[in-house]
Amino acid sequence: MNILIIGSGGREHAISLKLSEEQSNHKLFISPGNAGTSQIGKNINLNLNDLSEIWTFCKSNQIELVIIGPEQPLVDGLADKLREKSINVFGPNKNAARIEGDKEFAKTLMSEYEVPTASFRSFNKDKFDDAIEYLRNGSFPIVLKASGLAAGKGVIIAANFEEAEKALSEMMKDAVFGSAGDIVVIEEFLEGDELSVFVVTDGDDYFILPQSQDHKRVGEGDTGKNTGGMGAYAPVKFVTDELIEEIEENVINPTLKGLKEKDSKFSGCLYCGLINTEEGIKVIEFNCRFGDPEIQAVLQLVEGSFSQLLLSTAKGKIDKNSVSLSSGSAICIVAASGGYPDTYQKGYEITGIPNNTENLRIIHAGTKMSEGKILTNGGRVLNIVANDKSNDLAKCKKIAYDALSQIEFTEKYFRRDIGYKA
Ligand code: AMP
Ligand code: GLY
Repeated sequence: MNILIIGSGGREHAISLKLSEEQSNHKLFISPGNAGTSQIGKNINLNLNDLSEIWTFCKSNQIELVIIGPEQPLVDGLADKLREKSINVFGPNKNAARIEGDKEFAKTLMSEYEVPTASFRSFNKDKFDDAIEYLRNGSFPIVLKASGLAAGKGVIIAANFEEAEKALSEMMKDAVFGSAGDIVVIEEFLEGDELSVFVVTDGDDYFILPQSQDHKRVGEGDTGKNTGGMGAYAPVKFVTDELIEEIEENVINPTLKGLKEKDSKFSGCLYCGLINTEEGIKVIEFNCRFGDPEIQAVLQLVEGSFSQLLLSTAKGKIDKNSVSLSSGSAICIVAASGGYPDTYQKGYEITGIPNNTENLRIIHAGTKMSEGKILTNGGRVLNIVANDKSNDLAKCKKIAYDALSQIEFTEKYFRRDIGYKA
């Protein structure tokens, strides 16, 4: 099958690699891709704002499936436009992508369909004074979220009123997140263990991939700033069959129903960012795509035809028998550029990348090829992914950290404690 994958991160290389490892002979095109994807497919540079360019490309290359990796093109409505041209797309339409791109919409949907989540109020920027009054009476810590997309940086946990006031002012008045902060959701702080659940769905029926845990903070012991994710592992030990039932009943089913009834039927990956509180499972956030770096680990535990899972979903009737799940475990450690998630340098040569083996995959994120060399080209640079079929996470960790110690580039930074909660 000829497949076009949109994106350039670890998620897109992980998906491409999974597809390239299937029995069938896929021809992969990645736009724009990275140094890793160029080794297993053809990197191209499509202008996502130019539908006729994408359409012409798909036609002349007989593309049977387009997989849209990141949230921005989904929120912008790329899937809708491709579907209008009868192209099979994995990824939700614009209306459904609001579940990630419009937090106020997501929270209101959850209230209406009784999906457990943090209690909240949302405020438009012209109601700044009301929001301040609400914060003055709030209990702390409290969580402020820019309603729109903010590259994973739009969530502030304020320890006290002063911090909350400052954050609100930065979002609404200084527009530090641009128009994403025009509406701010203020919500209750929840405590518990977090988990990411990826639900591949055609809008009616669905298949749940192995649960994973991300490590969002830059520093060890979950300290410092939020990042896109510094590492992940799967599966999550505290998840029992009963907990999955609770998640299906209280989160997945009502959310899919609500989306359908709101003319926003969701087709693609519904990412449920959950927290296991004393009062049960609650939703922290929904995303409209696979999580990065979680999917890098999760895909190690998927067997069978991932392409068939995605294609059948794109065509509107998910084939749940196309894949099965391995009982093993997997880990992904992110090697980042020093300074990330703030400013960092690009263009350093990367050496010592080991070859992939049965248990090890090196998945690229911010990398590029230049004159035969692989250079750093982003904040998150590489993902070192290890798996173990006997479900020994300690073994995965050893394989991954050993491989990471061979890889060199200037200002390489990584967390040494990925998987510590397991
Ligand atoms: P998000 O960008 O929505 O994934 O949020 C980033 C991180 O902020 C989450 O992974 C949580 O660790 C934290 N967070 C978000 N909302 C809450 C909440 N209501 N209570 C506690 N932590 C939260
Ligand atoms: N790793 C978190 C995310 O993809 O949003």
